[in-house]
Amino acid sequence: MESHEGDLQLIREKIKTLPSKANRWNGRSDMPFYQFQGFWYKPFLLESIMWQQDHFVAHPSDIVLATPQKGGTTWLNALAFATVTRNQFNGSTSPLLTNVSHDCVRPLGLPSPREVPKTPLLGAVHTPYVSLPKSILASGCKIVYMCREPKDLFVSQWHFQRSLSVEKVSLEEAFQLFCEGLSPYGPYWEHVLGYWKASLERPNEVLFLKYEDMKRSTADQVKKLAEFMGCPFSPEEETEGKVKILVDFCSFDNLRNLEVNKTGHSKEFKVSNKLYYRKGDIGDWKNHLTREMQERIDQITEEKFTSCGLTF
Ligand code: A3P
Repeated sequence: MESHEGDLQLIREKIKTLPSKANRWNGRSDMPFYQFQGFWYKPFLLESIMWQQDHFVAHPSDIVLATPQKGGTTWLNALAFATVTRNQFNGSTSPLLTNVSHDCVRPLGLPSPREVPKTPLLGAVHTPYVSLPKSILASGCKIVYMCREPKDLFVSQWHFQRSLSVEKVSLEEAFQLFCEGLSPYGPYWEHVLGYWKASLERPNEVLFLKYEDMKRSTADQVKKLAEFMGCPFSPEEETEGKVKILVDFCSFDNLRNLEVNKTGHSKEFKVSNKLYYRKGDIGDWKNHLTREMQERIDQITEEKFTSCGLTF
């Protein structure tokens, strides 16, 4: 652990030299975000990304699960984990019954003492494509990315950040920052575009999924995910209803109501698991954003995404 401390000390020194901006996403203006390779971070989250770049070694058989913050990480981790372990565990033995899904995939960050079931799954969590450790790209391992319609993502992120802060950032202030690109792991649009372009250039290595498609046609998306990860559902499994069983097991209502997700804490992130389950709806932004806010985000989305062939 001591050598990690030494490395971390150097990283912390380096972070202090990066461009920074005060903001109140954390409810505190004395904790600025730092900009690294085009994206904004809270300093302790950036430490982990910089450490991964220097030390993480990927294996070609690894499968990296990447998302923007609030892009559906908890759900994607659960679906991918349940899919790759479906011959090992069932609905009564799955580690997902007693662990939040974040704790079921190997962390990419600093060495963690927690035990993780043996699978090829790696939680890259929220690292932008440009900042993934080079060994992930060089090894040719597979990357699954899931993102979300920008307005719903913003609302989910705002709720999440408020629930972590003592002083609460207002919706208006957070909205302004989000649109300027200053949000956790933002600019959001650039985060999505990094993986979108990679999925077009390297379709066998990068699978691009949308939360909305996953909600609307979960079974089809899970079959696509399984195929991409190299463990497609066989015709027999489909006839036996295995896809539906898995989809139902990973549904919002089922996972949210497990004791571990009502009262437990993530071992990896020390966050109360219930914060990962809020509403899980498409279109919740309508309950929060004004017409002007909607138009502003939609205009940015149109400018950034449409010319790249990406629509929500
Ligand atoms: P809302 O805040 O809109 O409810 P992340 O896992 O990346 O932190 O994203 C959290 C968002 O995914 C939250 O959205 C949460 O409710 C939703 N979510 C969590 N588990 C889900 C599931 N099994 N099915 C659908 N949505 C889920």
